[in-house]
Amino acid sequence: MNYKIAVIKGDGIGPEIVEASMKVLDKIGEKYGHTFDYTEVLAGGAAIDACGTPLPQETVDICKASDAVLLGALGGPKWDNLPGDKRPEAGLLGIRKALGLFANLRPAMLFEELRDASPLKSVIIGDGLDVLVVRELTGDVYFGEKKKDGDFGASDLMNYTRPEVERIARVAFDSARKRGGKVTSVDKANVLETSRFWRSVVLEIAKEYPDVELDHLYVDNAAMQLVINPHQFDVILTGNLFGDILSDEASMLTGSIGMLPSASLGEGKFGMYEPIHGSAPDIAGQDKANPIATVLSVAMMLRYSLGLTAEADNIEGAVKKTLAQGYRTGDIANENSDVVGCVEMGEKIISNL
Ligand code: NAI
Ligand code: MG
Repeated sequence: MNYKIAVIKGDGIGPEIVEASMKVLDKIGEKYGHTFDYTEVLAGGAAIDACGTPLPQETVDICKASDAVLLGALGGPKWDNLPGDKRPEAGLLGIRKALGLFANLRPAMLFEELRDASPLKSVIIGDGLDVLVVRELTGDVYFGEKKKDGDFGASDLMNYTRPEVERIARVAFDSARKRGGKVTSVDKANVLETSRFWRSVVLEIAKEYPDVELDHLYVDNAAMQLVINPHQFDVILTGNLFGDILSDEASMLTGSIGMLPSASLGEGKFGMYEPIHGSAPDIAGQDKANPIATVLSVAMMLRYSLGLTAEADNIEGAVKKTLAQGYRTGDIANENSDVVGCVEMGEKIISNL
């Protein structure tokens, strides 16, 4: 089969991690007889430099005409002083919205080989960590009305509508059915009206899923529970803002933000796949970045958008094997590891496919 993949390499370490991951994908193509046709498009800082806007219309059009989008990371200090709507992040939020990608799936899984890289005590990790954060991606305070009152103050409106909460809740309940059968909805219903509304809608949707266990936590407590008792979680369902923060926290429990992939999905099979980390300007261009989060994002792409399960399993198995062989990028290294750069880590994974 022939698949059309739009590629946004992005800024900072983006090009390094995406190029390493495309090589993995090419090897999969060779091995299983698929062709991946890449169209490289611009967004974020690179797009600002080339065309003066963080999200050119051509990028949206080409992404829409593709089977899936692979993205590195956008942003960096070079563009930090631009106004909000001209910044690279506006490109990221804009593309998620333009493509209707309202569900962000962020699995936080600890590879047994990386047990020592987790900041958690072994007794808390127990027999491993496996949490799926389902984060709403196109609503909440990130997309609410923004106001700036001169140099006196500013506001961002937090809001959610019923259809927005219903569809993300269904994604969480459907995911829980395929996993551990439990959803923890995270909100701040003791204080926020949006959260009380969120909770009431989630309770309604839960009636469609009597086989799935549901509980609710306030976000501050959820942040704490993640580090003291992560095993209580199976699927965490939450809004855009809380999900942004909790998924970074969950990622660290697994050793490094450089390990965690994500899928952003809409109503159909089309999706955008990216590591959860940013453009890491502190290590950009030094061949130090961990490409595994992006490689695992490619595996999610094969599984969710292209329906290529064996191929996805192959990539995940190769990552596991590479870690078992002791190869580590700097972010996950310990005193016994063989420290490799981004390029070499990619090559080791390919040799283990
Ligand atoms: P970051 O995720 O880029 O970096 C945080 C820390 O983690 C840094 O010390 C970095 O070196 C390290 N790190 C991140 N990815 C790594 C990898 N693959 N391998 C090894 N180490 C890794 O977050 P930060 O510093 O807050 O943001 C930097 C820029 O990225 C900002 O402009 C920010 O807006 C942007 N950003 C973009 C995102 C996206 O495109 N999805 C998400 C988050 C931030
Ligand atoms: Mg974030």
